[in-house]
Amino acid sequence: MRIALTGSTGKLGTVVLRELRDHGHDVVAFDVVGPREPGFVQIDLTDYGQVADALAGVDRAAGFDAVVHLAAIPASGLRTDVATFHNNMAATFNVFWAAVRLGIRRIVYASSETVLGLPFDVPPPYIPVDEEYAARPESVYSIVKTLEEQLARELVRWHPDLSITGLRFSNVMNPEDYAAFPSYDADARARKWNLWGYIDARDGAQAIERALEVAPIGFEPYIIAAADTVMSRPNAELIAEVFPDTPVTREVGEHETLLGIDKARRVLGFDPRHSWRDHVE
Ligand SMILES: NC(=O)c1ccc[n+]([C@@H]2O[C@H](COP(=O)([O-])OP(=O)(O)OC[C@H]3O[C@@H](n4cnc5c(N)ncnc54)[C@H](O)[C@@H]3O)[C@@H](O)[C@H]2O)c1
Repeated sequence: MRIALTGSTGKLGTVVLRELRDHGHDVVAFDVVGPREPGFVQIDLTDYGQVADALAGVDRAAGFDAVVHLAAIPASGLRTDVATFHNNMAATFNVFWAAVRLGIRRIVYASSETVLGLPFDVPPPYIPVDEEYAARPESVYSIVKTLEEQLARELVRWHPDLSITGLRFSNVMNPEDYAAFPSYDADARARKWNLWGYIDARDGAQAIERALEVAPIGFEPYIIAAADTVMSRPNAELIAEVFPDTPVTREVGEHETLLGIDKARRVLGFDPRHSWRDHVE
């Protein structure tokens, strides 16, 4: 596929760019910062003119079969709330709108685990969490991720041949991050904010590739997390200590992710392969 990738210089985007190209896709990388090299185009996604021009085709090359949109200020607290809202909302509206206007019918983009109610100061409705309950954003960053999902729902209603996939990524990790993981065990509450979840960036890339290949028309959100937690302590102990009153709706393995990835497995064929346990003695 010929793919436009936004956020290509970022933590997740760097790995996604490498994996998509390794697997034979023709990818043009877009970011506001990046290397001066073929295949990278600098862009400010908050400027609709630039976005419409870029998605129509770079230089004299043709346009795109699909858009993978990862660019964002990737958390709350990094910039002011207003800057986060304006940047992320405008960038996503512009990317979705230009894609739709130009007839690109496949969009895969980064939503976020935060819409599930992180940092879970209010406990989740049940464990494992899934995509079945309404979004519970607790920050401006997460409000934008929630609004983006609603925007996607409306756009697919208007365009019945359009496919938009919102991947609610967990906390993105690379192998060099794994050395810190054993230290999390000392305090059950230190990583309760996302139910002790994470996602290896390579498995994040796999989810994107699966969505590019098989996502149905319409809009669907999917939780994308590693198959296991960041903890060596067993789930039963963690839940009893931190969320004693939260219903556990099915049997969960000792270290099985509590960010439910059943839907992504079932619909997308997502199969996370990377665990921190393979990288730490
Ligand atoms: N990192 C995580 O733990 C995490 C978890 C869940 C979801 N996400 C989402 O995944 C995506 C990628 O996250 P990341 O960790 O790689 O973030 P990152 O900050 O490393 O990369 C984001 C990239 O987007 C670019 N960007 C931001 N605004 C732009 C604009 N207006 N125009 C052009 N480029 C712009 C930045 O320059 C940066 O290179 C984001 O949408 C983020 O919200 C990340």
